[in-house]
Amino acid sequence: MTRILFYLEDYPHDIWRECLHALDPALEFLGNPDWGNPEDGDAYAFVWEPEPGLLARYSNIKAIFSLGAGVDHILSDPDLPKDVPIIRMGDEGLKEGMAEYILMNVLMHHRQTPALLHAQRQRKWKRVFSLAAKDVRVGILGYGALGKRAAAALKPIGYDIAAWSRSPKDAEDGVTHFTGDDQLNDFLARTNILVGLLPATPATDNLLNFDRLSRLPEGAAVINAGRGNLIVLDDLMALLDSGYISGASLDVFPEEPLPADHPLWGYDTVIITPHSAAITRPDTAARYVLENIKRLEAGETPENLLNTNLGY
Ligand code: NDP
Ligand code: OXD
Repeated sequence: MTRILFYLEDYPHDIWRECLHALDPALEFLGNPDWGNPEDGDAYAFVWEPEPGLLARYSNIKAIFSLGAGVDHILSDPDLPKDVPIIRMGDEGLKEGMAEYILMNVLMHHRQTPALLHAQRQRKWKRVFSLAAKDVRVGILGYGALGKRAAAALKPIGYDIAAWSRSPKDAEDGVTHFTGDDQLNDFLARTNILVGLLPATPATDNLLNFDRLSRLPEGAAVINAGRGNLIVLDDLMALLDSGYISGASLDVFPEEPLPADHPLWGYDTVIITPHSAAITRPDTAARYVLENIKRLEAGETPENLLNTNLGY
């Protein structure tokens, strides 16, 4: 019998229990705060922002499944057990949700929606000219599961797409690849709409500072749905103030929730969403977790096993 120790605060657990039971009626679902005793037998943790120290107290945990693709909410636990595998979420629902968010926001900046909404608020009939999609260069920072799916959603519109990642990628139709720190400035220089889909790691901390953002061509827009550690917000605001950056869509922030008195809330050119670009869907996530438990129990490597050295 599979035992799941589930941790999610402030949201109902019923839908998760139901989705897991629909796939495995015999499964034992233990939601926080009732995780039973470590002596009860082997278990798999399935968690979002678990209380620090909790995972270390359950020596029966065989693997930790993250409710999200990001694992920063687990790695921040100073007492995290060192030898328990961590598996990142990679279900279809998450990919679909992110592709929708990126497509919607790229289209909004391409078609200058923030400027149109600004004019509307002032009751101004102000037409704007937008380039043909083929002349709009979209640059995706991070070409993993979500970056690839975002590119696939953008391709049919006709955008000129590039992607930047840590390791080289095979040539492919419709995407120009850039790799590593050496090629970052060239990638930025050709990007009109920048899309951040990077994990939070020491290497991505404050990567987009004033200097890097200034490498984008004048009038570029910035979208970030990876993690809030990526952008130095004061630098982004300075470039929005001067008009060098035309607008932004931000779903993730260094401090969440974004404080009510943060100046970003006041920018007409910034579309703020509350870390909801892709919210994990219980039906597809339950299937993903149970399939990967099967792999683990068969001695196989699960999908999206965390590389602890890289942090993603
Ligand atoms: P993946 O691990 O599949 O992909 C990560 C990508 O980032 C890879 O292409 C990787 O390069 C690249 N990368 C990592 N570090 C660097 C670096 N230092 N320099 C250059 N490239 C780097 O992750 P996912 O696509 O599944 O998810 C990405 C992130 O999106 C998650 O970590 C999470 O933080 C965020 N997220 C946000 C959500 C939201 O609602 N806002 C929802 C879901 C996820 P390489 O290919 O070479 O390994
Ligand atoms: C994730 C997230 O990491 O929702 O999946 O941020």
